[in-house]
Amino acid sequence: MSSQDKIKKLIDLRTEAKLGGGQKRIDSQHAKGKMTARERIEALVDEGSFEEFDMFMTHRCVNFGMEKEKFLGDGVVTGHATIDGRVVYLFSQDFTVLGGSLSETFALKICKVMDMAMKMGAPMIGINDSGGARIQEGVTSLAGYAEIFQRNIEASGVIPQISAIFGPCAGGAVYSPALTDFIMMTENTSYMFVTGPKVVKTVTGEDISTEDLGGANIHASKSGVAHFKVDNEEEGLLLIRKLLSYLPQNNLEEAPMLEVTDPIDRLDDTLNTIIPDNPNKPYDMKEVIYALSDHSEFLEVHRNYAKNIIVGFVRMGGMSVGVVANQPSFLAGVLDCDASRKAARFVRFCDAFNIPILTLVDVPGFLPGSGQEYAGIITHGAKLMFAFGEATVPKITVTLRKSYGGAHDVMSCKQLRGDLNYAWPTAEIAVMGAKGAIEVLEGRAMSKIEDPAEREKYAAEKIEEYTEKFANPYQAAAYGYIDDVIEPKNTRFRIIRGLQSLQTKKLSLPPKKHGNIPL
Ligand code: HXC
Repeated sequence: MSSQDKIKKLIDLRTEAKLGGGQKRIDSQHAKGKMTARERIEALVDEGSFEEFDMFMTHRCVNFGMEKEKFLGDGVVTGHATIDGRVVYLFSQDFTVLGGSLSETFALKICKVMDMAMKMGAPMIGINDSGGARIQEGVTSLAGYAEIFQRNIEASGVIPQISAIFGPCAGGAVYSPALTDFIMMTENTSYMFVTGPKVVKTVTGEDISTEDLGGANIHASKSGVAHFKVDNEEEGLLLIRKLLSYLPQNNLEEAPMLEVTDPIDRLDDTLNTIIPDNPNKPYDMKEVIYALSDHSEFLEVHRNYAKNIIVGFVRMGGMSVGVVANQPSFLAGVLDCDASRKAARFVRFCDAFNIPILTLVDVPGFLPGSGQEYAGIITHGAKLMFAFGEATVPKITVTLRKSYGGAHDVMSCKQLRGDLNYAWPTAEIAVMGAKGAIEVLEGRAMSKIEDPAEREKYAAEKIEEYTEKFANPYQAAAYGYIDDVIEPKNTRFRIIRGLQSLQTKKLSLPPKKHGNIPL
C-alpha cells in the first residue's frame, strides 16, 4: 500500500467513525429532536478546538455475535477542547451506536479523559444519552461504570464536573451524573431513574409514565436531582458555557475575573423602598440580587426546586460570587428540609472552588410541624449549618429583614465565621418573632384576662414593646455580631469593597481526614 493509500485509509476510517451508528440512526436521532454526539460537542466548544481521542477503539465482546457488530469509537466521543479559551475535557455518548450503551472499552475511553482532566486540572463535562450497561457485555460493563464512579468521587472538589442529560439515563448509570457538581436535563427528551416504569409497575403496581417518573420537570422541581432544566439541547450547551464562566479550572485556582463596566459604586434607590412596612408582606428577593449584581446578571441554580431559598452565581465588581438568599415571596422564605439541602450543597461547591459567598437573609425560622420533623429537618438544617461553618472562602452576610432563632445562626452568622455581617435598618434579629414570643412570655398573664378585647389590647401592647426592643439590628450591632448597619442603596458598593478586602483571606480548618457532615 502506498503512503497515499495509507493516508486515504486513515481519512476513510475517520469518515466511518464520524458516522457513528450510520446515517439511518443519525436521522432517527434528529427525528427525536436530538443532536448527535459530535454535533453536541461542536455546539458546546470554541469553534475548531475539539481534539478527539480513541476514535479507533472498538469493543472486545464476543457474546451474542457481537464480534460482527463493531463501530469505530464504540459509542462515545471523547477528547478535549476549549470553552472561552479555557481547556475542558469531555465525553459525549453516541446513542446511534448500540443505544449509547456502555461497554468495557467505552468506559476505558471515559476514564482516560477523566484522568487527563485531573492531571491537567481542567473541568470535566459529560453528555449523557445512553441505554445504560451494554447488556451483551455483562459484568465488564458494570466494572466500567464503577471505574467511572470512582473517578467522579476522586475528582469531586478538585475539578468542576458537569453532566448534561440529553436522552435516557437509567439504572446505575444515573450515579455518575449524581456524583458530579451540576446536572442539566432537557425537557421532553431526557429522563433519569434507578428503575423504569415497567419495573416499577411489576414491583409496586404503580402505573407511571417515563416523564412523571424521571423527566426533567420532576427532577428540576420535585427531587432536586437536576440543577437546570432547559427547553432544548442548544440552550443547555450555552448554559454550560455560561456556568463555566463563573468557575475556576480547579480547586487551586480562582474563578476568572472579568472587566467591569458596571460601576462598583452604583447606588440603587429602589433598595431603600423594597422592604414593605408590614413585616408580613413578601417581596421578591431576586430583585435585590439583580440590583446588586454586575449588569443585573444572575445564573440561578435549582430555580424550580425549594424556591424558598435562592442559590446561584453573580459577578460583583467582576468577581464571581455564590449567592444564597432566602426568598420571602415563597413560603415566607422559611427554611425546610429541601431548602437546607439545596443551599448546603451549593455552599460546599463554592467553598471547594474558592468562590466567595454572599448570603442575603430574610428568614422567619425553620418550618415547624411533624411533616418536617419526620423528614429530618434537624439533620438537613444541620447540613446547612455545617456547610457555612466549614466554608473558609470569604463570606459576607447581609440581613435585610427577619433573622430569627436557629435560622439566624444557620444563615452564615458571625459566629459561623462570617467575615462581614451587615444589616439593613429594617433587620429584625431575635430569638423569635414578636407574636410567638409574647405567647410564650405572656401566656399566663393573658389567660387571666377574661375580656377578649382587653386581652387583645394587652397582647398588642406587649408585641409593640417586644418589637421596639428586639425587631431591629441594633442589639446585634451592639454586641459586634453585625459589623455595620448600612443604608440599603449602598449595599452593592459595601459588598464589593468587602469582597476586595477579603481577597487575601487565609483560614484553615484543623487537620483531619474529613469532617462528618450530617448526611
Ligand atoms: C445494548 C442496547 C442497550 C443496552 C439500547 N440498545 N440499550 N444495546 N445494551 N443497554 C440498543 C437497542 O438494542 C437498539 O439496537 C438501539 O440500542 C436503540 O435502542 P431502541 O430500543 O431501538 O431505542 P429507543 O426505542 O429509543 O429506546 C431506548 C431505551 C431502550 C429506552 C434506552 O433501548 C432500553 O430500554 N434499553 C435498555 C435499557 C436498560 O435496561 N439498560 C440497562 C440498565 S441497567 P438496534 O440494533 O435495534 O438499533 C444499567 C446498570 C448500570 O445500566 C449499572 C451501573 C452500576
